[in-house]
Amino acid sequence: MAVDVEKLIRPHLTDIQTYDPVDPPELLAKRAGIAPDKVVKLNGNENPYGGSPKAAAAVANTPLHIYPDPLQRSMRRALSEYTGMDQDSIVVGAGSDELIDLLFRLFIDHGDKILDFEPTFGMYGFCARVAGGEISYVPRDELFDIDVEAAGDAVDDRTKIIFLSSPNNPTGNLASNDQVKALLETGRIVVVDEAYFEFCGQTAADLVPDNENLVILRTMSKWAGLAGLRVGYGIMNPGIAKHMMDIKSPYNVNVAAESALIASLEDAAALLENVEKIVDERVRMFSLLQEMDGVTPWPSWGNFILCQFAPGRAGVVYEDLASRGVFVRNFGSQRLQDSFRVAVGTPDETDAFIAALREVI
Ligand SMILES: Cc1ncc(COP(=O)(O)O)c(C=O)c1O
Repeated sequence: MAVDVEKLIRPHLTDIQTYDPVDPPELLAKRAGIAPDKVVKLNGNENPYGGSPKAAAAVANTPLHIYPDPLQRSMRRALSEYTGMDQDSIVVGAGSDELIDLLFRLFIDHGDKILDFEPTFGMYGFCARVAGGEISYVPRDELFDIDVEAAGDAVDDRTKIIFLSSPNNPTGNLASNDQVKALLETGRIVVVDEAYFEFCGQTAADLVPDNENLVILRTMSKWAGLAGLRVGYGIMNPGIAKHMMDIKSPYNVNVAAESALIASLEDAAALLENVEKIVDERVRMFSLLQEMDGVTPWPSWGNFILCQFAPGRAGVVYEDLASRGVFVRNFGSQRLQDSFRVAVGTPDETDAFIAALREVI
């Protein structure tokens, strides 16, 4: 039967501005006309050392025919030990992306607002569009620092959530805990997205017990190399955590991700050695970029570096790198049109990126 399905779709979703995701290596290789193992993939802030072998072994030994524990008991216990926070203040999601989405489901009605410090991670704006929410953009200053006063001024009756990525993806800079405290004073939900916590060691998690409106987001995708399994967690007031647990889909984190998370936390010392290697490599890559003419690297506390070029150059450099099999992340926004973000990979990947960049510029 012919039905005009478009008419049945919620109007704000029929022509939504989508999230711009990164493509898989096979596709990138095909596009560049090279073998997949020749791809230098530095566009997803993934961990070049992969996950823990113990996580892989745990996944291999996980029975796949049984549903996961909807109350996430063993994951919450393990994360409580890792973070030092109470189990009932922890919620685990299929990536921190799912937790961002759950926060929208919990707090944002049609026409409610979120506050977004631009430029920043695209998921906050994307989820707002899906939820039919509005976005108040508070621009970051010339050093990409946030303006808490402007944020306070932008908050109104419909503002429910303030999103703050720290370190900020893609600019790499941190927000201070004083800035977080000032945002908490607005009385709105303040989400501090600490996806890159292990690469910088700075956290606002200690503020959770005294601030009912604070939510910290973390992920196993970056430091623990589990991006493909999709597992992240939030730390928040147990009241909010209870609501998040109540509305999530019952078996949201699959058994493989559950096993891998627990095994990774048991192997945290080894994984944090990889984090140290990545941080050392970030320092080396930054100074190599600093020595080059034609590119300005921004200091970063994450596992990536934002690289800025002369007006009009970034797109050309991006395409030239891609044709050489080196993939970085570009952005459509006006503010970042002359920049791209490069993930910190292995020393060999840095060398390949730098060599290609030298040839291109
Ligand atoms: C700031 C920030 N938050 C969240 C995420 C998503 O993490 P996950 O893989 O846990 O969904 C990313 C991924 O790049 C990120 O940069």
